[in-house]
Amino acid sequence: MLKIILNGCNGRMGQVLTRIIGEKEDMTVVAGIDAKPVQLNDYPVFGSPQECNVEADVIIDFSHFSAVPNLLQHCIDIKSPVVVATTGLDDACFEMIAKASETVPVFRSANMSLGINALAKAIAAITPVLEKEFNVEIIEKHHTKKLDSPSGTALLLADKVNDACQVKKDYIYGRHSKHDEFKMTEIGIHAVRGGTIPGEHTVIYAGPDEVIELNHLALSRDIFANGAVAAADFIVKQTPGQYSMDDLV
Ligand SMILES: NC(=O)c1ccc[n+]([C@@H]2O[C@H](COP(=O)([O-])OP(=O)(O)OC[C@H]3O[C@@H](n4cnc5c(N)ncnc54)[C@H](O)[C@@H]3O)[C@@H](O)[C@H]2O)c1
Repeated sequence: MLKIILNGCNGRMGQVLTRIIGEKEDMTVVAGIDAKPVQLNDYPVFGSPQECNVEADVIIDFSHFSAVPNLLQHCIDIKSPVVVATTGLDDACFEMIAKASETVPVFRSANMSLGINALAKAIAAITPVLEKEFNVEIIEKHHTKKLDSPSGTALLLADKVNDACQVKKDYIYGRHSKHDEFKMTEIGIHAVRGGTIPGEHTVIYAGPDEVIELNHLALSRDIFANGAVAAADFIVKQTPGQYSMDDLV
């Protein structure tokens, strides 16, 4: 039985994970951590990692970027594998991910869905063919409660395009109020917020007289929770280091 602690357990993703893990026979949520430590489910909820005195095999984090460095320090202290799914991470988070991965296995992905990670592989395959003649723009759409913008997934997809390019590109966040001449060395990234959209990403390759659009639509948050659960099952069997969906897909 895989014992899991959920960081950010009372949020939208925390509650989806609670339901999905609850439907499985080989794993269980033993505790939650949340800035609002109210018990909503059949496991205890603590206000910080340090207050959580329940033993587990792995911690899954869907919370807020500001929570990530302290959580990772705690994972080092108790030698716990961790799955970091929170997005909008800053340099302090990335430094702590690197530090923690020297001591424990750390899995991080800005998007845990199989579809987005398959899309990333498609990008790696077609970008070198198109790079010279096609420019790339990325549009992401999310619900109005999403805090970070652009989405971590839009940045993940832009990074995949850039990784596959011979000439590295700069990211331009929105094009309004700009009067500069267009450059092929740019990827434009555009964020739209509306209603309850769980997540939509479109990667546009625009060339002379032809356009390719790769579109991914998340129809529910279950896809992210299922990926995070698969990542948790994977990470507990690994040695210290950094892991991502590339290791799973
Ligand atoms: N990697 C992926 O596939 C994926 C998918 C969906 C969402 N996300 C990301 O996961 C994060 C959470 O998303 P959500 O929609 O559940 O957000 P949410 O706002 O509904 O939930 C976040 C929860 O974290 C809690 N929280 C805030 N600060 C905290 C702290 N310091 N310690 C512990 N808990 C804290 C909040 O109280 C809240 O309950 C976001 O960064 C989001 O972008 C990632």
